[in-house]
Amino acid sequence: MAAEPVNVNDFQVLAKQVLPKMYYDFYAGGAEDEHTLRENIEAFHRITFRPRVLVDVSRIDMSTNVVHAVAGKVPVLFDGGVRRGTDVFKALALGAQAVLVGRPVVFGLAAKGEHGVRQVVTMLKDELELTMALSGCPSVKDITRSHVRTELEKLKSML
Ligand SMILES: Cc1cc2nc3c(=O)[nH]c(=O)nc-3n(C[C@H](O)[C@H](O)[C@H](O)COP(=O)(O)O)c2cc1C
Repeated sequence: MAAEPVNVNDFQVLAKQVLPKMYYDFYAGGAEDEHTLRENIEAFHRITFRPRVLVDVSRIDMSTNVVHAVAGKVPVLFDGGVRRGTDVFKALALGAQAVLVGRPVVFGLAAKGEHGVRQVVTMLKDELELTMALSGCPSVKDITRSHVRTELEKLKSML
C-alpha cells in the first residue's frame, strides 16, 4: 500500500505505480508541451515571496468574481505546471485571473478515483489558503504583484 499523498506531486508518483507505462508516459510526457511544462515548473521555483511579518488573517475569504473583476477585459488564465497552492498564489500575484490544472487531476483519478480528484483540488485549495494567510491576504483580490518577486527583482534589490 503506497503512502498517503501529502501534496499534489505525490499523486504523480502513485499514478505511475498504477497506470500502464504507455498511458503514464503519454500523460506525464506532456503530449508535446513538455518544454513549456518544464519551463513553467522551473519558473515557479524562481519566483519567491517577499518577506513579511504575519498579521491578523483570521478572516480568509476565497470568493472572487473574475468576470466582474476584469470588467470585460480579456482574462489571463495561467495553464501548465501548477502543482502547489503557492504556484496558484504566484500566478495570481503576477496578474493571472485564474489558473488551470490538467495532469494533477488525471493522476488523482488514476491513483484514487473520484476521491483522488477531490483530494488534489482540496490540497491545492488548502495550500492556497495557507499561502494567503501567511501573506496577509484575506481574499484573492488582496493578492498583488508586490507579494512576489522575480529573480531579476531579487538581483536589483541587492545592488
Ligand atoms: C495527455 C494530454 C493531452 C493534451 N492534449 C491537448 C490538446 O490536444 N490540446 C490542447 O490545447 N491542450 C492539450 N493538453 C494540455 C491541457 O489542456 C492543459 O493545458 C494542460 O494539461 C495543463 O497543464 P498541467 O497538466 O501541467 O496542469 C493536453 C494535456 C495532456 C496531459
